[in-house]
Amino acid sequence: MRTDGDTWDIVSSVGLTALGVATFRAIESLRPNALIQDPYAPWFVESAGEPHFTALLASPSSLDDLPFSGFMGMGMGIRTKFFDDFFLTAARSGVAQSTILASGLDARAYRLDWPTGTTVFEVDQPKVLEFKERVLTEHGAEPKADRRTVAVDLRDDWPTALKAAGFEPSTSSAWSAEGLLAYLPGPAHDALFERIDKLSSSGSRLALNYFPSGMDAQRFADIRAKYFSKDPFGDIDMAALFYEDERADPMQWLTAHDWSVECLNSIELANMYGEPIPDLPPELADLAEQSGYLTAIKTAN
Ligand SMILES: C[S@@+](CC[C@H](N)C(=O)[O-])C[C@H]1O[C@@H](n2cnc3c(N)ncnc32)[C@H](O)[C@@H]1O
Repeated sequence: MRTDGDTWDIVSSVGLTALGVATFRAIESLRPNALIQDPYAPWFVESAGEPHFTALLASPSSLDDLPFSGFMGMGMGIRTKFFDDFFLTAARSGVAQSTILASGLDARAYRLDWPTGTTVFEVDQPKVLEFKERVLTEHGAEPKADRRTVAVDLRDDWPTALKAAGFEPSTSSAWSAEGLLAYLPGPAHDALFERIDKLSSSGSRLALNYFPSGMDAQRFADIRAKYFSKDPFGDIDMAALFYEDERADPMQWLTAHDWSVECLNSIELANMYGEPIPDLPPELADLAEQSGYLTAIKTAN
């Protein structure tokens, strides 16, 4: 059950979803033909010591009765590669500041070969960033960019905190909202786009994933119950974490505000990456088709 201003750490509420996706990045990194390598992800899982995800990483084959082995890892691989490619393309074309909204346990500041002079801002709740900092420090990890963390709630006035950390609205920037939008209530969701737009000069870029046809938590619950004898997300009750209230359609909103928008689904991305998704049962194929991976470039100031 979500409430206004609720908070979490890495093993509770929405924080636990960050640990979950880190676990699937770690599992994908082990798969033959993995789409990504994230050597940082297992550190977080080990350090959090949360029973379900610790056991899953210790024995990824426990998910092998799923519709196809590797389903969860590959899905996360597609998603991770999409955002990796987005940031690297933007950075190599001269965008020197990248902001990862709801960064969770995303280690892109460490994993990617950023051009010299790139600043990477990571925005998330304080306890999530504290946990991440502790683990990275314990392992002596060094970022490959000027990494700045911004501990703030994305339902609050995050642009002020971002600017205080050194973000420059007059310079073009790249933004990601990965695995975030469904966790925001409608007004904070719509404010997010207004704020990104206000902070973005011409040539700025945005990438996000979402369900263009709308979020349907019950549908997720039904699919989990039908297909997953061992639940990949353990005790996380997604239905209680998602907001399904009214909100602007990102594609329409961005197009109306001078952003040039493209959107692909995960099946199209997998084909593009040369790793087509194996045949899926109808509900899962439908879910993959309805997933949206959107990129946008701002064309006017
Ligand atoms: C599913 S995780 C995704 C994390 C990361 N983007 C990734 O893909 O690995 C969701 C993340 O959104 C963050 N988040 C959700 N709502 C937030 C809010 N109101 N303020 C700050 N962070 C939020 C959570 O703390 C969590 O890290």
